[in-house]
This record gives sequence, C-alpha cells and structure tokens, in this order.
Amino acid sequence: METSANLDLHPDHAVVWHDEKLYLLDQRVLPVETRFVVCEDVAATAKSIRDMVVRGAPAIGVTAAYGVVLAARERFHAAPTGWRDGLSADLDLLAASRPTAVNLFWALQRMRRLLERLDQLDPVPALLAEAQRIHVEDIAANHAMGELGAALIKAPTDVITHCNAGALATGGYGTALGVVRSAHRAGKIGRVYADETRPWLQGTRLTAWELQQSGIPVTVQADNVAASLMARGGIGWVIVGADRIAANGDVCNKIGTYALAVLARHHGVGFMVAAPTSTVDMNIASGADIPIEQRAADEVLACGGTSLGPEGVDAHNPVFDVTPASLVDYIVTERGVVDRPDAEKIRRLMQG
Ligand code: MRU
Repeated sequence: METSANLDLHPDHAVVWHDEKLYLLDQRVLPVETRFVVCEDVAATAKSIRDMVVRGAPAIGVTAAYGVVLAARERFHAAPTGWRDGLSADLDLLAASRPTAVNLFWALQRMRRLLERLDQLDPVPALLAEAQRIHVEDIAANHAMGELGAALIKAPTDVITHCNAGALATGGYGTALGVVRSAHRAGKIGRVYADETRPWLQGTRLTAWELQQSGIPVTVQADNVAASLMARGGIGWVIVGADRIAANGDVCNKIGTYALAVLARHHGVGFMVAAPTSTVDMNIASGADIPIEQRAADEVLACGGTSLGPEGVDAHNPVFDVTPASLVDYIVTERGVVDRPDAEKIRRLMQG
C-alpha cells in the first residue's frame, strides 16, 4: 500500500514506526516525488526492501527488525497460542529480500535471539521495543562515528562520496555523511562531490538532496570524473559507507567504491570507510566470500524508464564491489577507529 502519509519530510525519517505501522520514505522516487510506502505486514516489508523503497545497509537492518514485529503481530492475531508456527518462514522471507548488506541478517539474528527467550503470550511489545532499540542504537552509533571520523580530518578540504551513506541509508544522521555532517560543523568540509552512482543514481537523487537539505555544499559528478578531480588537487578524502566488512578488513560497498580506493591511493587521497560494527561480518574471512547482489540488466540499459540499449543486448549489473583492506586507510566504527585494517585489528575491535 502506498500513501502520502502526513509525516515530516526529513532525511532522518526514512524509516518511521508510527501508529502501529511501518512508514518508509520511498527512495525510488526521491526527490522528484515525496511519498511514504506503508507496510502493515511482513510481505510488504520484504517487498519494500527488495524493490529498494528502502535501501542502505543499516536502514535495511532497522526495517527488517520492524518487519519481524509485523510478522509476529499477524501470527499472534491469527493464532494467539500458536503464533510461533510460521514465524520462522517470515524471517526467511525477510532474509531473502537482499543478499549483500549484512545488517539485514544481523538485525534478524538479534530479533531471533529475543524470540527464543520470549515466554509471554503476546510477543509484540517486546519485539517492538527491541526493533526500536536497534533503531535508536544505530542513530547513536552514527553520531559517535561522525565525531571520530571528523577528528581524522585535520585540515579543511573538499571530499568525494559515493552512493548514499546518509540519514536515508540508516536509522538517521548517516555513516559516511554522518562524518561529513560532523566535519562540516567543525568547519572542515568545503564541498562534497557526490558521485552520481549509476545505475540507481543514489548520489544524484539522494545524497544531493540530503546534503542540500542540511545546507552542506554539494556538487554532483558523473562516476568517471573522480580521477581527474583528484588529479586537479583539493580533494583530501574519499568517505564512503559499507554493506559488509569481512573479518580481514575487506570492504564491500556500492559498485564503483573499489575504483575510488585505487584512485585515492594513486593520488595520495585518504580513504575512509564509516560503518557500524553491525556491518562487520566475522563469519566471512575475506571479501572474496561476500555474496554480491546482481540486479536486472534493464537497470543498466535504461535510464528514467527510457530504454537506451539495443533490444536484446545483455548487461552486467553487479551492484556492489569489494575494496581490499590494503587500500583502506581507516575504518571508523562506533567502537573506535581502525587504521590500515587487517584481520588482527578487526578481531581486536570486535572483541573489545
Ligand atoms: O544498493 P543500495 O542503495 O542499498 O547500496 C547502499 C550502499 O552501498 C551504501 O553505501 C551502504 O549501504 C552504506 S549505507 C550507510
């Protein structure tokens, strides 16, 4: 069900629990259209994640947690004493919505652990409280990362970011854009160059809108401009988010991130990844094992609904890539900063 619900239009309100329903700011159509998709059941929630109504690793995790609340409510209403039956299939449905961002599986695991402990009749109040905790903790983590990441930026500079790792992609405030926000407040950011981020144009549509709303100078550029911009000088940092970080520090993020890391190293530009520890997957030894989502060819062959390629041609559309840890200068998490990440440093971060 789609609606133009009367909720505040603000990047921090991409995922809103309101009036016992889940409201998702529709990121497929922003900023040209502003509308919310309302999810009242688990099927609508899973579909919204799959269809990219909501996107960005932490935001997907928060959404999935609320999806579990909706699933349990449906099951409880249908069978007050047998609500556990079928709930596991609902969690599987949510888990199958997108494969790469580990925050989805992390949030589901947290909800599953709570479910195992629940003995009261109605599971909804406890599950809702846990989903809201996941949401609030994500916002707090972003503020902490913002301060830690901003402290790494020693002199005022322009920066490049890729995709959208902002409030829209999280519970609020943002990861990479959280660092940008905090650094901008400290007078350290001149201008943000936002890669357009083909084919979904998260940079053009979402990052540009979000930064403009916050009064942070932003310029959109085609993805292939970054090399010449770095060569010209004036770019101090590339700051990005992550969808999954492997145990050895390899970073999986939006397709094109790897190219930026190579360029940054070549030009002596800092490469900073901001991601909460819910994005670190200690079960994955290296980036080579991270499942990379492949999306439909027509996402590449069309633009704005207009088909551009010759009929029948194929297109390669992996939507994430892996940046080797050796190209990463800093991983900024809410627990602290890891410089030049490797397996030992990530292990210490996660244990601490
Ligand atoms: O396909 P998307 O839009 O979900 O991809 C999002 C990204 O790659 C983000 O950079 C990442 O999730 C970090 S969001 C804080």
